[in-house]
Amino acid sequence: MSAPRLHRLADFIGALGTLVDQTTDEKLIVAGGGRLLAGLIARDDWLPGAYAQPHPARYQQYLLHCDSRERFSVVSFVWGPGQATPVHDHTVWGLVGVLRGAELSQRFEHRGGAFASTGPVHRLGRGEVEAVSPKVGDVHQVTNAFDDRVSISIHVYGANIGAVQRATYDTDGRPKRFVSGYANDTLPNLWDRSKLLTEAAS
Ligand code: FE2
Repeated sequence: MSAPRLHRLADFIGALGTLVDQTTDEKLIVAGGGRLLAGLIARDDWLPGAYAQPHPARYQQYLLHCDSRERFSVVSFVWGPGQATPVHDHTVWGLVGVLRGAELSQRFEHRGGAFASTGPVHRLGRGEVEAVSPKVGDVHQVTNAFDDRVSISIHVYGANIGAVQRATYDTDGRPKRFVSGYANDTLPNLWDRSKLLTEAAS
């Protein structure tokens, strides 16, 4: 198999950095970032295998990049067959794009003292992008749409998401604080452009 085309991720991060340099308006960032993410996930030839590995017991959250000022982070979520998150929030804007397989997202909300699912289950297929945030609906549960194969989605958040104080929710809507962290200790090396330069020169 040929080497992962990591420059696609480096280019994405550069373009997203330019976008957040230009504006702090969440609407503009989500719209522009969503277009950039759709471009990134349109091709499935760049994610290194180490960041695409499922775990038999739980979904994995691999940090791919964090902005030096923690204005955004990029994460690969790897879902084993049938794996799901608890009901949880994000507290910052987020973009979810499906790279491989498909996932199901169910929103939840507190309404009139009750806590319940709201709206239909949203199926996000290969190449599709969805936004979450406190402004557009922040509490959901995500499940691998397949019970016989791995799905992978690429997430972008408006913070270093693994270090953000967030909450999971029980069936009564009671929050339980958590900080997710990441499954990996090392990051992909996005900055070795030597192969591309060698290719361009030959
Ligand atoms: Fe989420």
